[in-house]
Amino acid sequence: MLLLSVALLAIVLLLGLQYIFSYWHRHGLPHLKPEIPYGNLRSVAKRQQSLGVAITELYRRSTEPLVGIYLFFTPAILVRDATLAKRILTVDFGSFQDRGVLYDKKRDLFSCNMFAAPLSSWRPVRSKLTAAFSLSQLRGMLPTVLDVGTKLEDRLGVAAESGDAVDLNGICMRYVVDVIAEVLFGFKADSIGNPEHPFYTIGEYCDEQRSYIRNVHLSSISRKVSNFMISLVRQQMKYRAKNDLARKDFLQLLTDLHQEDLSVEECAANVNLFYTAGSETTKATVIYTLHELAHHPEVMGRLVEEVDECLKQSGGEISYDLVKSMSYLDVCRKETLRKYPGLFFLNRKCTHDYQVPNSWLVIKKGTQLVIPLKAYGMDERYFPNPESYIPERFLEDTKNYDENAYAPFGNGPRKCIAPRMGIFVAKVTLVRLLSKFRFEATQELKIEFAPSVVPLVPKDGVRMKIHRRCI
Ligand code: HEM
Repeated sequence: MLLLSVALLAIVLLLGLQYIFSYWHRHGLPHLKPEIPYGNLRSVAKRQQSLGVAITELYRRSTEPLVGIYLFFTPAILVRDATLAKRILTVDFGSFQDRGVLYDKKRDLFSCNMFAAPLSSWRPVRSKLTAAFSLSQLRGMLPTVLDVGTKLEDRLGVAAESGDAVDLNGICMRYVVDVIAEVLFGFKADSIGNPEHPFYTIGEYCDEQRSYIRNVHLSSISRKVSNFMISLVRQQMKYRAKNDLARKDFLQLLTDLHQEDLSVEECAANVNLFYTAGSETTKATVIYTLHELAHHPEVMGRLVEEVDECLKQSGGEISYDLVKSMSYLDVCRKETLRKYPGLFFLNRKCTHDYQVPNSWLVIKKGTQLVIPLKAYGMDERYFPNPESYIPERFLEDTKNYDENAYAPFGNGPRKCIAPRMGIFVAKVTLVRLLSKFRFEATQELKIEFAPSVVPLVPKDGVRMKIHRRCI
C-alpha cells in the first residue's frame, strides 16, 4: 500500500514537473530544452558555473531574438536582441517596471531593498538617495578616496618589495569597502590595516551565502549579516543624533527616510545593498582593467603615458577634473566593463502585457525577462573581435560597436544609481596605481569565475607581480 502511494506520488510529481517545463512549448515560443528538475540551470544547481556564465552559454545556444528558458522552475525570456532590450529598459519601461526578485516583508525583511522593490516602494527611496551621488558629493569624496588610497599604495609597496605575486582581488576589495564605509556610512573601517575588521569580514560571509537560489527564492541574506547591518545602522544613527551631527551624505538621507516611514530594518537592507552593489562592481572594474593591461603592454604603455602626462601638468595633484580629462583611461574602463560587466545580466518582470514590436508575440504580465549584458559584449554582431581588449573601439574617431548593446550600468529609470561614483573611484585608483607601479601578469588571460555567486568574482583571484616604477 505504502509502495503504491509512493509510486502514485512520484507519478503526480513527474506530471506536475512536465507541465511546468512545457510552459514555452504551450505558449509557442522558441525555447531551449529544459531538464527536469533544473530547467536550463543544471550547471548552476551543481555549483559548476556561476549564473552569469550559464546565461551567457544559453545565449550562444540559440539564434532567435527571444528565447524561452527556465531559471530552475521559473519560465523566463532571454532577450537576444540588444535593440529590443534597450527599448524594454527605456521607452517601454512602463511595461517592465520591476525586477521580479524576492521582495517580501513577511518572509524576509532584508529583501525589502531598493533593488528588489516594486515600483511604488522603489520610487521614493530612489529619488531621495540619488542626491548622495551628485557631482558635488562626488567631489567631496575625493579626499577620502585618496586617503584610503595611500593605505592601498603602501600595501602594494610591501608586495612589490617582497617580489611575490599577490591577489589583487582581496586587496582591492578591502580598499573599496573602506572607501564605502567612510563616504557612504561615515565611519573609518581600515580593513587594509586590520584584516579582521567586521565590516570587511561580513562581506566575505555574504559572498559565501550569496547564491542565486538564495537571492531569488529563499531569503536574501543570513541572520548573521542582517543583525550586523541593523546594529550598524542603529549605532550610526544614534551617534549622529547624540552628537547633533547632520551631514548631507547617504546615511543622513537614509535617516531622513527613516523619519518619514522606512523601518530600521529596511534602512539596514539598503545599507547592505549599497555595500554589495558598490564594492563588488567597483573593485571588479579596477582589477580586471589591471589584469587586461598586464596582458596588453601596448595598451598599458599608452595609458601610462596619458597618466604621466596629466599628472605632470597638474603637479602630481589628482582632482575630479583631471581624472575626467583622461580620455584613454575612459575608453579603457569602458572596454573593461564590456568584457567584465559588473552584472552579467539584467532582469525585469513584465508588469503589463506587452506587444513585441513587429511580432505576433505578446509578453504576458508576470513574465520574467533576462537581458544578458556579458553575452552582448562578447557577440561579434555588436562588438567585432570581442575576445580582444581594444579600448580604441570606444574612441570617437575609431568607434566600432553597437551602442544598443552596451549598458554596463543598465538602462532606463532603474539603471545603476551611482555609475559616476563607480567610475570615479575606479579611475582615481587606476591613476594612482599606474603612476607608481608596473603590473606583471602571472596567470592566464582567461579568468574563471566563481560558481554559485551572482557577481563576477574570479575563482582563483587575480594574481600579479608588482614592481615599483623608476620615476
Ligand atoms: C563600476 C561600478 C558599477 C557597475 C558596473 C554597476 C552596475 C550596475 C548595474 C548593471 C545595475 C542594474 C541596472 C539595471 O537593472 O538596469 C546596478 C544597479 C544598482 N547599483 Fe550599480 N554599479 C556600479 C557601482 C555602484 C555603486 C558605487 C553603487 C553604490 C554605492 C551602486 C548601487 C546600485 C544600486 C543601489 C542599484 C539598484 C538601482 C535601482 O534599482 O534603482 N552601484 N548597478
